[in-house]
Amino acid sequence: MKQKPLHTLLAVSMIAAGVFAAPQAHASKEKPVIGFSIDDLRVERWTRDRDFFKAAAEAKGATVSVQSADANEQKQIQQIENLISRKVDVIVIVPFNAKTLSTVVAEAKRAGIKVISYDRLILNADVDAYISFDNDKVGQMQAQGVVNAAPKGNYFLLGGAPTDNNAKILREGQMKVLKPLVDKGDIKIVGQQWTNEWLASNAQSIIENALTANKNNIQGIVASNDGTAGGAIAALNGQKLAGKVAVSGQDADLAAIKRIKAGTQTMTVYKPIKTIATDAANLAVQLAKGEAPKFTSKMNNGKKDVDTILLEPTALTKQNVDLVVKDGFYTQAQVGP
Ligand code: GAL
Repeated sequence: MKQKPLHTLLAVSMIAAGVFAAPQAHASKEKPVIGFSIDDLRVERWTRDRDFFKAAAEAKGATVSVQSADANEQKQIQQIENLISRKVDVIVIVPFNAKTLSTVVAEAKRAGIKVISYDRLILNADVDAYISFDNDKVGQMQAQGVVNAAPKGNYFLLGGAPTDNNAKILREGQMKVLKPLVDKGDIKIVGQQWTNEWLASNAQSIIENALTANKNNIQGIVASNDGTAGGAIAALNGQKLAGKVAVSGQDADLAAIKRIKAGTQTMTVYKPIKTIATDAANLAVQLAKGEAPKFTSKMNNGKKDVDTILLEPTALTKQNVDLVVKDGFYTQAQVGP
């Protein structure tokens, strides 16, 4: 066999030793390596979380590797396993399915990697921290926004993805507002359905069917985010009902801000993405350095009481929708006059 030249043998042995590999974690506390595993970057808000998170983490000297699972359970697990094999210091996860990550989180912990549940709580897993907005309060704001616009009548509850623990918490918050009004007879819930993957197209067909089943006699739609609200409003448009039926949302998506100004969407809930993303980046760097972050509360995830940071949401209607411009979330040009 022809002897390989010395420089090839040297290069091969250096690669084998990981000298050329991606930045190895645990390399230095001053330059932590963070993996950010996101459910689905097709949903507008997560692209903003990604950008704000990277900027904040890199400002602290960290390197960030972002992966989008495009709402695929297996893909997300494989991506997290890849981050583990690359020995990152911290993995921050927006779970596609809250119930299927216990094993891979345990694998990360065994590898000495810290795990943060971002915005959505991972269930039955040994996560180190959870950071989100108060989703029960978001749900209450959504329902209250629809009740303020349509205090009586037939309501349809358009839930989020059944795989997302937030969808359940939002519904619990919504029912705290709606149940007394249902008991009084002011409101009748004529239907409710979860929206797979939070997709607007799924929401649109759910509401088209609900309008048909109720002969268009619906006065309020409690939608759990702006993407699904957009699908519902497209269905209402088809029946010339857009602007006549109260519709809630959350995330302050740009399209939703425009619909609120146009009067076809009643309200959204603004959750300063820059705040949660920056706070999460700081939290990740602190955990990587072995520092003790400040938590506001604990939330049980079925396995443990997880150290938690819950941030305050803000309800936006036509009256205060320009807060997103004052806050620098959008420019005036983006939201229009
Ligand atoms: C939820 C999140 C919401 C909503 C949805 C879409 O978990 O809290 O902001 O946008 O995901 O992915």
